[in-house]
Formats: sequence, structure tokens, C-alpha cells
Amino acid sequence: MKKLIKFPSLIITVNTNGKNLKRGKELNDISPVTDHSILIEDGFIKDIIPNTSLNKIHVDEVIDIKDKIVLPGLIECHTHAAFVGSRANEFIQRLNGMSYEQILNNGGGIISTVNAVRNSSYDELISILKPKIDHFITQGITTLEIKSGYGLSYYDEIKLLQVIDFFKKNSKIDIISTFLGAHVFPLEYKNDHSGYLKLIIDELLPYIKKNNLSEFVDVYCEKSAFNIEETELILSKAQKLNYKIRLHTNQFNSIGGIQLAIKFKALSVDHLEVITENEILEISKSDTVAVLLPGVSFFSKTDYAPARKLIDNNAIVALSTDYNPGTSNIINLHLIMSLAAINMNMSPEEIISAVTINAAKALDISNITGSIETGKQADFAIFDTKDYRDIIYNIGQNLNLMTIKKGEIIYKKL
Ligand code: NIG
Ligand code: FE
Repeated sequence: MKKLIKFPSLIITVNTNGKNLKRGKELNDISPVTDHSILIEDGFIKDIIPNTSLNKIHVDEVIDIKDKIVLPGLIECHTHAAFVGSRANEFIQRLNGMSYEQILNNGGGIISTVNAVRNSSYDELISILKPKIDHFITQGITTLEIKSGYGLSYYDEIKLLQVIDFFKKNSKIDIISTFLGAHVFPLEYKNDHSGYLKLIIDELLPYIKKNNLSEFVDVYCEKSAFNIEETELILSKAQKLNYKIRLHTNQFNSIGGIQLAIKFKALSVDHLEVITENEILEISKSDTVAVLLPGVSFFSKTDYAPARKLIDNNAIVALSTDYNPGTSNIINLHLIMSLAAINMNMSPEEIISAVTINAAKALDISNITGSIETGKQADFAIFDTKDYRDIIYNIGQNLNLMTIKKGEIIYKKL
């Protein structure tokens, strides 16, 4: 089956010449192409063809997008979308001066979402997650990562991963799950850390692997969550079981998470709002992606991660919503792109690289998606503008017109 994405005014290829990532200065090069169309064969990108040669090509279907621009399908690489309930009360408490860590230490925060998730059935969680995934799709997102981490018991973590697994099998986009059983210590293990570590290491990690419920393990490495020794124990077992590793670290404190992540060859370190100059250099030398989450800083009125310094030192930088009820109740990747421009001084081009190829790299899928290069999946976001900077400039608007996954139109604005 051959299809043609015909006559776009611009193709933002985010070409990497087969490197499948962008570091430092490379983020600024998104390789726009004019006067070309994209040939798709059986869901994959076959060629990018000059419009002058189109008469030689026979296709089964034409998707005419005159005056629109094509980007690689956006990749949302860090969310906690599988949650229920509202924490509006805490949001207001924080605006009135209480800190996130204070709320967590008082048994609120993540723990209050854990209570809500434990009280929800598999079916309830499915019906709550479905419209959220659909909302991401309307924004041009073609791959979405979702973490567990609000169950924090054997039964409830598996329940959450099974909910996400339902969408892996029944969604129009690729859904990737990450096991975040080590989000915080649940109340019943507050004074028995080794008991909870045992549950994760001896029971959950092997079960999840055996049942193919997740390829990824994440840990919240932070003073109020898992310390370095605890994180290392979990990562060691995860590595033995061949999980791919990611880490929430340096959100409030610099306690050695970055060094540990690099030692374990983690795919990404996420947050980095609190980071030393030396740590910036260490990440920049490594192959670990720095996933920055400006929605957290905006929502929580805290410092932004030093995107400029990371990029200027040659790091691989990605961006994501971190969509969650406590620190970034923002289900809008385009808004995150605007925040990165305004508050992190990232250029529009760097931002596009950060939500496409580098976000794909953080999920270890940048060899199959994240840029418009021959042989990759035909995953595209079609925007209703001639100037890609409009996506960032029109704050809070959705200029995405069409989302295409493996060559199929899965969303079209009415
Ligand atoms: O990425 N900080 C840890 N985890 C999430 C927040 C989760 C929550 O507050 O519910 C984050 O910010
Ligand atoms: Fe997060």
C-alpha cells in the first residue's frame, strides 16, 4: 500500500543522518525541506520526493496537505497519566506557601493519589485514562509514555500496569509503560523501607518482566523518596533483569542521582531543576538524555532546569509535560514547548528536536520514529500553519490538524 503526503509547504525532517539523536548545537538543525512530498509504503517512510518528480509515482492514496507543515509525530516521553482524583486543594495550599515536600511528608501528595488509585477498579482506571490518551493524540503525539507509581502495592502496581497494557494493545498510537513502583514509600512501609525494597526487588521486578508488563524501570531518587543506596539496590536488580533504566532525580536536591544514572547507563535523567555545574558537565559527556519538565517549574513556581547550559555543553536534551496531578497538571505538550521558549531560552528549533528525536531517544525508539527519515515509521503531526514557530507562539492553542500513525490518519480536526 503506497500513500503520498502531498504538497506540504514545509517538511520539518529533524534529519539526523542516521544518528537518531541530537546533542548540543545539533538541536538547532531541524533540516526543513520545501517543494517535496513524502512517499509512504506499508506504514513506513519510503522516500522524500521533489514535487517535480511526482508524475512518475503511482500511489493508492493521496493525503493532500497543501499549505500545511509536516513534523515528525511528537513523542511524549514522561507522563504519570494513569491517575485518578484531584489535588486542587494541595495546589492552592502550595500557592499559599506550603511546600510540595511538606505536603508529601504530611501524608498528602503522591500518597493521596495512591489512595484514590487503590480505590479504583481496573475498569474505572481504563475509562479515565482513555480520554487523556485521545487528548494527547489531538496534539500530534504518536508515542506516549505512561508510568505506574500510584499503586505502590503488589496488587495495585500490577493493576496500573495492566491498565496501561490494555492501551498498548488497544490504542492508535504507541503506548510505552514504565514501572515506577519506587515512586515513594507507601504509608504501610514508612518505617520498613527494606520491606518495600524487598517487595520491589524480589517480587514486582521479576513478575513484571516475566509477564511483559514493562521494559522500563524508573525510581524517584530524592531525599523524601528513595535515597542513593535504596535507588542503587533497585537499579542493580533492574539491570540484572535487563530492564531499561530511567531516573527522576535532582528535582529538589542533588544527592548523587545523576552519577548513579550515568553509571547504570540510564536512558534518561528527568527533572534536573537542582543541579551543580559539574553534574551539567557529566550529563553532557554521557549518552543519557536530559529530560526537562518546564511544566513542573511553571505549575509549582520553582526554578527551571538549566536547558541553555545543558545544550551549550553538548547534552542530549528532551522535553515533556510530566503530566501528573501534583507537580504538573498540564496535559498539553504545545504549552510545554512555549514554556521552554519563554523560560528556558530554548530556540523553536531546539524545542522541536526535544519533543521529537530526543524524546524518542529517551524511550530507546529513536531508530524507528522521532524524525522523518527513510525507513522510519510514517508518524507525523500536520500543523495548520506555514511557520513552525506558530506552534510555540500561539500559546494554549492547538494548531495540529491531523495526526498520522504508521501511515494512517488517526485524528483529523473537524
Ligand atoms: O515527576 N516527583 C515525583 N513524581 C512526579 C510527581 C508525582 C505527583 O506529585 O503525583 C513528578 O514531579
Ligand atoms: Fe515525573
